[in-house]
Amino acid sequence: MHVMNIIPAHNLACPIDKLELLNKGNYYQCANGHSFDIAKQGYVNLLPVQHKKSKNPGDSKAMVQARTNFLDGDFYKPIADQLSKIIFSQLSDENEHCVLDAGCGEGYYLHQVMNVAQAIDNTSNISFLGIDISKPAIIAASKRTKQASWVVGTNSQPPFLKQSVDLIFCVFGFHSFCGFKKILKPEGKLILVEPGEKHLQELRNIIYAEPTTEKSKDKSDKDADYSLIDTQTLEFEIQLNSNQKILDLLSMTPHLFRANTEGKSIIENMDSLSLTTDIIFKIFEYKLEI
Ligand SMILES: C[S@@+](CC[C@H](N)C(=O)[O-])C[C@H]1O[C@@H](n2cnc3c(N)ncnc32)[C@H](O)[C@@H]1O
Ligand SMILES: [Zn+2]
Repeated sequence: MHVMNIIPAHNLACPIDKLELLNKGNYYQCANGHSFDIAKQGYVNLLPVQHKKSKNPGDSKAMVQARTNFLDGDFYKPIADQLSKIIFSQLSDENEHCVLDAGCGEGYYLHQVMNVAQAIDNTSNISFLGIDISKPAIIAASKRTKQASWVVGTNSQPPFLKQSVDLIFCVFGFHSFCGFKKILKPEGKLILVEPGEKHLQELRNIIYAEPTTEKSKDKSDKDADYSLIDTQTLEFEIQLNSNQKILDLLSMTPHLFRANTEGKSIIENMDSLSLTTDIIFKIFEYKLEI
């Protein structure tokens, strides 16, 4: 069997002038002389100060650590498995592909997808990119695998060459239809993985005085240049059997910040919790008018 061949990404672009970045060993450089060091952990920071809205944007180190603790329990592996199936069924027959995890966090999903690539009977070359605005998230992702290119950057101005990416996926993230257009190939695919209405409803019922439903974000769910070609759903139960696991889950979601004091104290004293996960996969194709 010939499995997919993972190659280094060669479509990084300077965030200042969008020119190609060349790998010079321990740094990247564009033709205008802008250079970006490759950190000792292997990632590159392509987020210039002018693209930052705060000093330390994105998830904090504590949130990243909670997410790693939770995801390493493989409670969400069914999500990664379905995502991988969709990705490899959507790639064209070409012999080179580039896949981007936009808002990759600490890298769990991209790493899972890469493991699947290494078991696929196919001789094509494939490169993997992970981008997140949070530096602690990218440092954690760099520890998962060195075979991906991990980049600190923003989805709204992704530092990759025009028309160089075959497929972008965004899991529970801050997608940018506009930003993604700048880098997707014509007929490139975009997969959004979002919570459905029942997602973690048991947790929400405990921490909020008024029970809530996950609302789909209609306003940012459409863009004239993309057509929705398929929607899939996934529902399964997870059983958390320690207080630490419950706290990890709470700490990696926005719920922690919105929870009321009473709800938080109930959670702090719980040792087990059974939860519904309800996930929607939206698959879009980018329609470039030529
Ligand atoms: C809910 S987390 C999901 C992380 C990961 N996809 C996962 O599911 O484990 C959202 C992530 O988006 C990142 N983020 C927020 N704004 C962003 C932006 N403009 N560009 C890229 N990433 C962003 C945060 O730092 C955080 O890691
Ligand atoms: Zn430059």
